[in-house]
Amino acid sequence: AGEGDPAILNLPDWSKTLGMPVAMNPYGQPSKYESQLLRRESPGLTRVGQASVSFTPLQGLFGIITPSGLHFERHHQGWHDVDPAVHRLMINASDPAFLKQPKVYTMDDLMRLPSVSRIHFIECGANTGLEWGNVAVPTVQYTHGMLSCSEFTGVPLRLLLEDCGVDYKKARFVLAEGADGSSMTRTIPMEMVENGEVFVAYGMNGEMLRPENGYPLRLVVPGVQGVSWVKWLRRIEVGDKPWATKDEAVHYIDLMPDGLHRQYTSIQECKSVITTPSGGQRLLEKGFYNVSGIAWSGRGKITRVDVSTDGGINWQPARIEGPVQNKALTRFNMNWVWDGKPAMLQSRAVDETGYVQPSYGQLRAVRGSKSIYHNNAIQTWKVAESGEISNVQVL
Ligand code: MTE
Repeated sequence: AGEGDPAILNLPDWSKTLGMPVAMNPYGQPSKYESQLLRRESPGLTRVGQASVSFTPLQGLFGIITPSGLHFERHHQGWHDVDPAVHRLMINASDPAFLKQPKVYTMDDLMRLPSVSRIHFIECGANTGLEWGNVAVPTVQYTHGMLSCSEFTGVPLRLLLEDCGVDYKKARFVLAEGADGSSMTRTIPMEMVENGEVFVAYGMNGEMLRPENGYPLRLVVPGVQGVSWVKWLRRIEVGDKPWATKDEAVHYIDLMPDGLHRQYTSIQECKSVITTPSGGQRLLEKGFYNVSGIAWSGRGKITRVDVSTDGGINWQPARIEGPVQNKALTRFNMNWVWDGKPAMLQSRAVDETGYVQPSYGQLRAVRGSKSIYHNNAIQTWKVAESGEISNVQVL
């Protein structure tokens, strides 16, 4: 006290000069002071970057929308910037009983049809997969960053199938196929299409999809694990049973404690995580902190989030920042006064079906610890007396 803060006492030079002109950056970029906020690879996770994942920096984001440039990426065979003028979507069937009139759509055909815009999360089934056995990675970017949330725009798949004369009584499944070298194919039950939720999307956050996320066309399958959101979507086949393709029979299956695998467990169960303060960060001193995080459920809306600062002994309801959307991220906040002593921060979400996010003990009792996919356990961040925050597991 007494000296005063030079940053407030002295007018900086830039305040006394002309600023930069309009449209100097015709496509705007974040401030240079935010250059650390990037999607990042986990070194050594895969042999090549073409069959890998980059994680969204959840620790630095606010609200529920992921900026398009920070949307996580998961490619099985690398990404491409595909010319929309030559991209096509074919809708077909092996039997005319399922679909009267197979059709091929251009992007221009699709973009003149009635569209919907909806906010949804996309989470890779392998998100938090490294943590099944024990703590593996230090920050929320790596524990939970195969997760993003955007406003997607496109055409309901129902509309296209009906345009091709689908017979819903006979055609009970669709197969979505991507145009990249990975031959990504996923079966989707027809109920999800019939209820209007599944759509073929060309828009993301108000502009065309980014190439990394499937430009010019991807499938949006709300609530379902990311692998079914087929990118560079080129074909939809309708049929009467699941196809059991390689990405359904060998990958994206859940290894259970009895040694058997579960197949087609595609819905992402209710989950939440505190994004700040979180692993790798450091509290400055004791006093007030806004504890902030995100919650989501593949089964609908989030109805409640509780926060614990003592490792799950006591819980308090967090403030839910609305409006709460169906199968979208939901932001929660809680006031917290840190007393300078060690603390264990946790969040626990509940969705509209009444499902409560499980602890690691509860989840492992049912699922074991050898799986890769669908880990939705409660995350714990340990705050040390020094203020340093680390990733720990509480049963
Ligand atoms: N679609 C195609 N064609 N090729 C792919 O490799 N990866 C899938 C899915 N769709 C993939 C794909 C997986 S495993 C996930 S988690 C999501 O896309 C990731 O979407 P994103 O890269 O937009 O985050």
